[in-house]
Amino acid sequence: MPIIDRQEINQEIEKLKLRFGADRSALLPILQDLQEKYGYLPDIILQETAHALGIHPVEVEGVASFYSFFRTKERQGKYVIRLCQTISCDLAGKTNTARQLENELGIKFDETTRDHLFTLEYTNCLGMCDQGPAVLINDRLFSQVTPDKVSQIIADCRQDFLKSEFPEAVPSNIKKTGPILDNQIEAVEPLTKALSMSRSEIIGIIRDSGLKGRGGAGFPTAVKWQLAGAAKGAKKYVVCNADEGEPGTFKDRMLLYEKTGFLLDGMTIAAYAVGASQGFIYLRSEYLYLRKYLEKALEKRQNQNLFGNNILQKEGFNFNIEIRMGAGAYVCGEETALIESLEGYRGEPRNRPPFPVDTGFQGNPTIVNNIETFITAALIVGKGSDWFKKLGTEKSRGTKILSVSGDCERPGIYELPFGITVKKLLKEVGGENAKAVQIGGASGQCVARQDFEHTIAYEDIGTGGSVIIFGPDRDMLQVAENFLEFFIEESCGQCTPCRLGNSKLLEGIKLLKQGKCSVAYLNELKKLGETIQLAAKCGLGQSSPNAFLSIVENFRTEILGRIPQK
Ligand SMILES: Cc1cc2nc3c(=O)[nH]c(=O)nc-3n(C[C@H](O)[C@H](O)[C@H](O)COP(=O)(O)O)c2cc1C
Ligand code: SF4
Repeated sequence: MPIIDRQEINQEIEKLKLRFGADRSALLPILQDLQEKYGYLPDIILQETAHALGIHPVEVEGVASFYSFFRTKERQGKYVIRLCQTISCDLAGKTNTARQLENELGIKFDETTRDHLFTLEYTNCLGMCDQGPAVLINDRLFSQVTPDKVSQIIADCRQDFLKSEFPEAVPSNIKKTGPILDNQIEAVEPLTKALSMSRSEIIGIIRDSGLKGRGGAGFPTAVKWQLAGAAKGAKKYVVCNADEGEPGTFKDRMLLYEKTGFLLDGMTIAAYAVGASQGFIYLRSEYLYLRKYLEKALEKRQNQNLFGNNILQKEGFNFNIEIRMGAGAYVCGEETALIESLEGYRGEPRNRPPFPVDTGFQGNPTIVNNIETFITAALIVGKGSDWFKKLGTEKSRGTKILSVSGDCERPGIYELPFGITVKKLLKEVGGENAKAVQIGGASGQCVARQDFEHTIAYEDIGTGGSVIIFGPDRDMLQVAENFLEFFIEESCGQCTPCRLGNSKLLEGIKLLKQGKCSVAYLNELKKLGETIQLAAKCGLGQSSPNAFLSIVENFRTEILGRIPQK
């Protein structure tokens, strides 16, 4: 590990400024590179970076301490082993894997071996929910890490295996395809077609299709593009939200790899439709292994005149895309927190309004869309909207790509039309004897057997794509506990209902689990959950009690069964 020398750091920072720019938005990429080189971010690095970018050192420290992938206190090991602790990996047996890792390395979690070779940490969802327990070692992902595999993985690390070539992506595990995943046209076709149309024609096709955002909230895509197109700003931006962090969601990881061409088409079409000249792919740090692959795809398109100036000979249409890495913060999936992060700040959600379509990246009109939304939009422009309108329901057109994990025979990726009942979905994936299904991730809804006739659709049970199945023997309070721990860890801490309310809720769940809680206390906890839903500032806090409340509603008898009878 290199010795830290002030002069050398300054030379390094100057080089990085040339690469990433000298303004505040270069802060995260610069810190990421410096951490990669020096193993951590001690005060001297934070101070020199602050000085070089003209930011107060306290601000830089505030940023570095916000993101879980930055390390300021202690040099991390050459290999940082991160074990996923979220629900699907928990169901798949992560606790035994954790014990085996500790035994093998002789350290506890959050510790580094004395030879500085290994650091052991927990992390939240790695997007490998169908193949858990999952472990990330630096930028390499391991699936199905049962205890018997631990010792070989550690031995491979000691042999320096990370220096060798490694696969660019993990298995996509696609179980069912539909019109989005089946290739009927080639990427680039949609973009070529779009450039022969006017901006309003493109937005018209998207409007006619009824496409709603695939990131979870289901906001109409055409309205977003129309508003950004009409907004006034010196420069406009298109941002791809590739921060997929919702527990149980891994479809964006698959799409990034399998449908890169359509994604880049979709972003470029959006840029053309709204008049944007700069794009960002905000890629979560857990998917670092996809970065090189995406960079190669971008380079190829540059050579084909699909990026840069006068794209496909369209005079005056200039658009470039830059990949920016997240640094381990689920809240940065929220679009305004994402923009804060792109600008070089802590990922703290903003008040809305103003909305990003008016006041987004550096105060300019910005559209933020999910990966699946861009891909679907590209296919709609390429093939027309009829095929899309025919699928799904009146209010939820098209198909949805679902990430299925938990207790079922065939976990993986499924493309299914909106409007499918939970019951049919369970039959498809081999999960018929489920006692409950969590739809929409930790922030979604826990659906019990009596509600399995409900449909997956924005007007019924909406989802960004996560489906987690719980078999008959699962303890639903343990599920609620796991979700609450996730939210407490991922809360940005800006507002009290989310920061303190969720901790109180977790305390209550722990008492309930031990049977030390009265019925009156359970009712108080319900009220607390409802208050958090109402009073929290952003979608994270507002949805954090959802799972607990639906579990209390649907499994009241199971919960009350633990409370001793008076
Ligand atoms: C806490 C939180 C996390 C989110 N994470 C993501 C995410 O990982 N990916 C995503 O596309 N949208 C995520 N969203 C929704 C975004 O804020 C935004 O609505 C979405 O990117 C818009 O794209 P769409 O209209 O194409 O769905 C998240 C929202 C919240 C509140
Ligand atoms: S609700 Fe939670 S994540 Fe959202 S702003 Fe408040 S503290 Fe931050």
